[in-house]
Amino acid sequence: MPAYAVIGGQWGDEGKGKIIDYLAERVDAVVRFAGGNNAGHTVVNDSGTFQLHLVPSGICWKGVYGIIGNGVVVSPDVLMNELQELDRRGVDTSNLYVSERAHVIMPYHVLLDGLEEEARGEDAIGTTGRGVGPAYLDKVGRAGIRVGDLLDPESLAPRLKQTLKFKNALITKIYGREALSEDELMATCLEWGEMLRPYVRATEEIVRDLLDQDKKVLLEGAQGTLLDIDHGSYPFVTSSSPTIGGACTGLGIDPHCIAGVLGVFKAYSTRVGSGPMPSELNDSIGDGIREKAQEFGTTTGRARRIGWFDAVAGKYSRLVNGFTGMVLTRLDILDGFSSVKICIGYRADGKVVERFPANTGLLARCEPVWEEHPGWDQPTASATSISQLPENALKYVKRIEELVGCPVQIISTGPSRAETILVETVIP
Ligand code: GDP
Ligand code: IMO
Ligand code: MG
Repeated sequence: MPAYAVIGGQWGDEGKGKIIDYLAERVDAVVRFAGGNNAGHTVVNDSGTFQLHLVPSGICWKGVYGIIGNGVVVSPDVLMNELQELDRRGVDTSNLYVSERAHVIMPYHVLLDGLEEEARGEDAIGTTGRGVGPAYLDKVGRAGIRVGDLLDPESLAPRLKQTLKFKNALITKIYGREALSEDELMATCLEWGEMLRPYVRATEEIVRDLLDQDKKVLLEGAQGTLLDIDHGSYPFVTSSSPTIGGACTGLGIDPHCIAGVLGVFKAYSTRVGSGPMPSELNDSIGDGIREKAQEFGTTTGRARRIGWFDAVAGKYSRLVNGFTGMVLTRLDILDGFSSVKICIGYRADGKVVERFPANTGLLARCEPVWEEHPGWDQPTASATSISQLPENALKYVKRIEELVGCPVQIISTGPSRAETILVETVIP
């Protein structure tokens, strides 16, 4: 059972990129299964700092396959730019493959993402504007263009013509904008096809072959559980399944091959975009954490909203994914606080709310029930062993473990690969 998943436990940006780069030393392949270039995964190691949007975060390990699975939506330009930048910086990208079944983010998806958000006005979701939602909409609506289609102009042409008819009607009649040219779009697609041709494969077969040979495969989650289209705070979610279920459909693997499911959590909470966040701090503490941690989006540069650790949401996330272990990142950011809080419950409409509510209106009314813990003076920053942690920091970690209901296997104490405490073996 040699597959291990790394899943965002909160609202994204938990530090998945860092943890995947750390763990990838022990695996043969890192495979992305969902999302698109709405993701921004930061990797910091001896080769430098990398912001990856589509390329899997194990890319700095020579010889490790990087695979973009069928569940991902791909912007060919973003992918090619990312590969060129990695090549320029001396990172070997010869082991990178893209699924022929992955859907393409087309120029009209990006355009419509912006127009739809504008039309939502005050109710905007705060998307990353990368066309991800509209691309998944077309996938489910059976009107998508897949990476493999770009390599087959004859079958692509009539499909593009048909789809563009509808898109242009929407763009001109609903939004009053100019129609996109079919000829230009077809030319772009052909160019993309030629650019991507060397990378396109039946990736589900590559992944299954690796698993059959008992090679270790790391399943790279993007976004986070609370942004999941089914399990997140709908409609303030992304349009894919960042939870563990998405790994099976997004790669074409069976659940039995998954030996471990690691949930990545920040030691506090952040969220980019709109939607309820019960433990949010709209005060100087939140501003202080944002400044200290430089909590600005990796993809859009937007300021991230900050809150204390939300254990109600954390427990829910554990249940949805069946986490076998937890990773706690950015513990160092809490160094020096006189006290830290954990949200251990919600109250709304004068009552205790027992579980993470499905009703977003109710979630928005939820008030946090706090538990306060003494802070720590000694730094956790850059610690590499559990014995280096101050007693109160360790107590804080243990309390989170207890509330979420799963063991903390890795603690991250800084952005770089080396600033990591392996509490328990994750990948044997
Ligand atoms: P991802 O989308 O889950 O991969 O996370 P992002 O890369 O978008 O955001 C996480 C940010 O936290 C990045 O800037 C990382 O370099 C940084 N980071 C990750 N782990 C740690 C940590 O333990 N401590 C500190 N200070 N920064 C971290
Ligand atoms: P990583 O992989 C944080 C958020 C957006 C918005 C909502 C919908 O880096 O953790 P979308 O563009 O997907 O339609 O936007 O989802 N969002 C993320 N927030 N990290 C991400 O990815 C995100 N990907 C999407 O901010 O609220
Ligand atoms: Mg990110």
